Amino acid sequence: MCGIVGYIGHREAYPIIIEGLRRLEYRGYDSAGVALFDGTDLKISKTKGKVSDLELRINEEITKTGKLGIGHTRWATHGVPNDVNSHPHISNSGSLVIIHNGIIENYESLKKELITRGYKFQSDTDTEVLINLIEEVKTKEKVKLGKAVQIALNQVVGAYAIAVFDKTRPEEVIVARLGSPLAIGIGDGEFFIASDASPFIEYTKNAIYLEDEEMAIIRFDKKIKVRKIKDDSLVDPYMQELQLNLEQIEKGGYDHFMLKEIHEQPKAIRDTFRGRLLRNEAIIKMAGIEDNMKKFLNANRIIIVACGTSWHAGLVAEYIFEDLARIPVEVEYASEFRYRNPVISENDVLIAISQSGETADTLAAIKMAKSKGAFVFGVCNVVGSSIARETDAGAYTHAGPEIGVASTKAFTTQITVLSLIALRLARAKGTISSSDFRRYLLEMELIPEKVEKALESDKHIRIVSDIYKEASNFLYLGRGFNFPVALEGALKLKEISYIHAEGYPAAEMKHGPIALIDENMPIVVIATKAEHYDKVVSNIQEIKSRKGKIIGVITEGDTVVRKLADHVIEVPDTIEALSPLLTTIPLQLLSYHIAVMLDKNVDQPRNLAKSVTVE
Ligand code: M6R
Repeated sequence: MCGIVGYIGHREAYPIIIEGLRRLEYRGYDSAGVALFDGTDLKISKTKGKVSDLELRINEEITKTGKLGIGHTRWATHGVPNDVNSHPHISNSGSLVIIHNGIIENYESLKKELITRGYKFQSDTDTEVLINLIEEVKTKEKVKLGKAVQIALNQVVGAYAIAVFDKTRPEEVIVARLGSPLAIGIGDGEFFIASDASPFIEYTKNAIYLEDEEMAIIRFDKKIKVRKIKDDSLVDPYMQELQLNLEQIEKGGYDHFMLKEIHEQPKAIRDTFRGRLLRNEAIIKMAGIEDNMKKFLNANRIIIVACGTSWHAGLVAEYIFEDLARIPVEVEYASEFRYRNPVISENDVLIAISQSGETADTLAAIKMAKSKGAFVFGVCNVVGSSIARETDAGAYTHAGPEIGVASTKAFTTQITVLSLIALRLARAKGTISSSDFRRYLLEMELIPEKVEKALESDKHIRIVSDIYKEASNFLYLGRGFNFPVALEGALKLKEISYIHAEGYPAAEMKHGPIALIDENMPIVVIATKAEHYDKVVSNIQEIKSRKGKIIGVITEGDTVVRKLADHVIEVPDTIEALSPLLTTIPLQLLSYHIAVMLDKNVDQPRNLAKSVTVE
């Protein structure tokens, strides 16, 4: 995690760096800092806390001039979040400056060695070790900064995206990456460096994304040079044209990114199936699937790996794939999968789901499955992300930038893509009739409108939120396709309101969780019209007789649960397999309103970050 940003060129660096940090704050917000060089002085200001705290501090501490600058927003790994551990870090000579996203795993042994050579350390960070290692190499080997960085990185075990400069040679910045993302914006006589392209989209649409184990020497008066860190070979980097625009990364009148992203879901889902779902022709067209159809059809099974909300989307997909395409599916937490010794064969297909495309555990699971011969398919949102590039083929979700740490539109668009894949495979396998296939396509096309309808309950959900905002615990229950939605609803509430919440399959309640139920326990039950509707109604009766407070998510017009529940939130009717796309909407809004009422930081909940690039 952590966000890094840098600038070298003809403009004042500070406004670019500080705005860039604001845009990257989703990556971590334990501390922030900047370093500026104005041709004479190196000025560093850093503080525990957010970018807004940094701005206050900078105003007191330094002048904001200089055409070379780097900045960092931190998600703490080594060392508590405090001023000293904040980045940028400087070398013992005071000449070299670094910002770093990642973890240097062997930093302790490197630090010991450096201490024996007289180096002193101010912070507890691995990053301060790295900058002093670079300095040691530079001095001992009498090499230029780029070479010193390269030699030092070859001694390092871990992950990094770094930017380094030397105040005695301010015409160049060295950047490198392994495992953490790094984009370089190419302007006219100026370069931008960032964890993603958002800090520089108003300045240039041309960017290079460094690959793992690559470094670049950026001289503002020259062309950029990209090299392999290991063998020093020159690389001809691929220049990408950015599709991102400023509007997409602004709040657009909403109080929070999360709320904006919740309301963007009708459009996001439409964008996801645009050009893929061709109802008039009764086909689903997805290049990544067509090109690899044999792999899917001959697969022994599909293994889905993901983390957090993406894992929940994987669980929904398990139900859909098995139901429609009759392909066995296993869904695994990437973090567990990568560290066991799973039985994987060449006939397995692994689907990796990730909004950011940077999640370290998911990336590691992909690499492991590939090494065992599996075909790996990615479902990512961020175009050009590490996972998108590491997989053999894939399908983007096209949700647009998701900035709120709590995933919302990423979840529904992941389910949309996975449903399209399941339907396409079902058609190819002949496990779905042509009339059912057409029915699904028609219904899928109606989902965005139905999401819009579900969003109309917002005011009512605010009232319900007000009633339960002080509860200490919540239970979320669902069955079948909606069991993963219960898990997702509980995760949403936990991560942004800090209220303890658990999701369960409704029928599991009697095996333990029912003991928790009393008059203080709100229980959100997804009780839409479905195959097991009657059984869910029985579960609601059981809760009611133990005085639990029931918030039912029901199908429009349902009177049975309406009579039993304390509150109901209606969603439009749809095919059961597609219902998670609707039932999840009120749960997102419920958690949002509760968190706002509790005055929590909805977009940047404590201890979290949007992109989890550490193990
Ligand atoms: O970018 P990814 O989809 O790989 O991220 C996975 C999880 O870190 C993410 O879904 C996380 O659980 C969200 N904060 C949930 O809202």
